[in-house]
Amino acid sequence: MLTILFLGDVVGEPGRSAVIAQLPRLKELHALDFIIVNGENAAAGRGITPKITIDLLRAGASVITTGDHIWDQKEILSFIDTEPRLLRPVNYPDGAPGSGSIVLETAKGPVGVINVQARTFMQPILENPFQALEVAVEKMRAQTSVIFVDAHGENTSERIAIGLCLDGKVSAVIGTHTHVQTADEQIFPGGTAFLCDAGMCGPAHSILGRAIDPIVDRFISNLPALFPVARGEVRLCGAVISIDETTGRALSISRINELIPETPATPPAV
Ligand SMILES: [Fe+2]
Repeated sequence: MLTILFLGDVVGEPGRSAVIAQLPRLKELHALDFIIVNGENAAAGRGITPKITIDLLRAGASVITTGDHIWDQKEILSFIDTEPRLLRPVNYPDGAPGSGSIVLETAKGPVGVINVQARTFMQPILENPFQALEVAVEKMRAQTSVIFVDAHGENTSERIAIGLCLDGKVSAVIGTHTHVQTADEQIFPGGTAFLCDAGMCGPAHSILGRAIDPIVDRFISNLPALFPVARGEVRLCGAVISIDETTGRALSISRINELIPETPATPPAV
């Protein structure tokens, strides 16, 4: 049995400090073999920097997935080709920097990760995620039967459709982006574990990780405003998936949803 932890969108310094502090405990508690973290909001809520990428990898993340905010920190454009464990969505047009998939060796065999971006209510609208996944999964299955997919998208139906299209072909499909955890964890008939949205790792008393008042004011006034990341205790959200590494079939999926006291910042903070 191979056990994977997936953590949803890490939001700003509070989110990444909590993740970095909690990963050793979670690794021991769940006897983890592989850790995947969505880091696309890790830099003050917008994108990820090279330093934060390295910090999360050093803390124990095996792979970092992203989504529509991948390019928000401009230095990532030149960095991403130097760090294959940082993924951007696989359905970018040919020629985009970086990669949308990776296969890494573990003591229990190779593990593949694919990052895809859905299209409904998403910007930019990327290539067809279903067709891109068909190509990427077929190619990856020649290398490993243990495949994890982060489906980054806004609505529920497209991500459920992605999950069902991949049932029996990958080990798990878990959604990200909305920062709100869904309660629909299940294993589809073909053996694919599914959760429509993992939820975020970010400030609990917030609106999707951001300070409450500026967002409420924006909804009321329609005037432009800054949306700083909130402070305080962090909700750490994700899922633990157990997989039969010989077949790639998921054996179990359970949600992670923990409230973590505010963690002192790991200097230097962004
Ligand atoms: Fe996103």
